[in-house]
Amino acid sequence: MRISLLDAGTRLRKGEVVAVPTETVYGLAACLDQPQAIQEIYTLKSRPPQNPLIIHVGAPDLIKSYVDELPEKFDDLADFFWPGPLTLVLPVKGDAVSKIATAGLRSAAFRVPAHPLAKELLKLTGPLVMPSANLSGKPSATSASHVEDDFGKEFPVLDGGPSQEGLESTILIWDEKKWVVGRLGALAPEEFLPVLRVIPEMAGKGLTGKELNETPTCPGQMYRHYAPKARLTLTLKIPHTAQKSQVIVGFSDKNYPERFKIYSLGSSAEPKIAAKHLYAVLRQLDVDGVKEAFVDIDFPDSGLWATLKERLKKAANSLSD
Ligand code: TXA
Ligand code: MG
Repeated sequence: MRISLLDAGTRLRKGEVVAVPTETVYGLAACLDQPQAIQEIYTLKSRPPQNPLIIHVGAPDLIKSYVDELPEKFDDLADFFWPGPLTLVLPVKGDAVSKIATAGLRSAAFRVPAHPLAKELLKLTGPLVMPSANLSGKPSATSASHVEDDFGKEFPVLDGGPSQEGLESTILIWDEKKWVVGRLGALAPEEFLPVLRVIPEMAGKGLTGKELNETPTCPGQMYRHYAPKARLTLTLKIPHTAQKSQVIVGFSDKNYPERFKIYSLGSSAEPKIAAKHLYAVLRQLDVDGVKEAFVDIDFPDSGLWATLKERLKKAANSLSD
């Protein structure tokens, strides 16, 4: 059910959960000061209670009240990337943030979204927690109808059109000495170079054993993700021999054997377009009842392409390289 901005604001203030557009993906929103609404988010999504939520605020200054001290380069990152598809995980003061939002961690994730409707809504509601508006394990929702597919036609959605980025925000975690990437997302690690002067490493990289357990990572990364029902086979070269699968997730400017039906991610020269289409294409496979599909992953391993490959590996549930 599509609702207006004012209605969305009123419902959230009353302690209801509504779906909200952001420039990355749609979010399932609850007010940070409404614990029973936050609890309802976990129930609605069937989300494991150990997986904390991102707190969305209207401006970086609003984060100060939750922390003792802002980490190095926080202001530079905020100036450069916010509002936008970046989430920063910071150590927070003892009781400053509801434990239900942080899943009991001593840190919390913050983001200032750029979508005009999300910005307007935050002025009416104050801070909102928002996980992606999909059932746990399914591809994130990048349109109002994706949200309705997962939560039913009567579920209240503020319709902001198709999501601009189509991938979740990139998460940087402050691990006391440096910023590390907790989740790849709409911003490629290379894009942080001008601000951080280094390309941030993936959290946990290069560590073993005990150290690994102490490394800050995003709990959400442990779970199977972004997956359609279809069994996906990632491949560099589509086999010419007879195969069960008749479907390829690929690119509009490439030639594939004629007997295949193509689900296009757009041009193989435009990773941002492919990112924007990815989840809609994965969801369409389910709508069409596709059981098996090849995915053409003959594209680079850098920038946003690397993020796309990581998402596809998770969708295919073949996490090892
Ligand atoms: O683009 C996005 O980030 C979207 C839109 C709606 O803003 N939100 C989103 O939320 O993707 P969600 O809940 O699907 O993913 C949040 C991720 C999870 O992997 C979670 O584990 C991680 O953020 N996270 C949250 N708080 C954390 C913390 N304190 N430390 C480490 N990871 C955290
Ligand atoms: Mg999610």
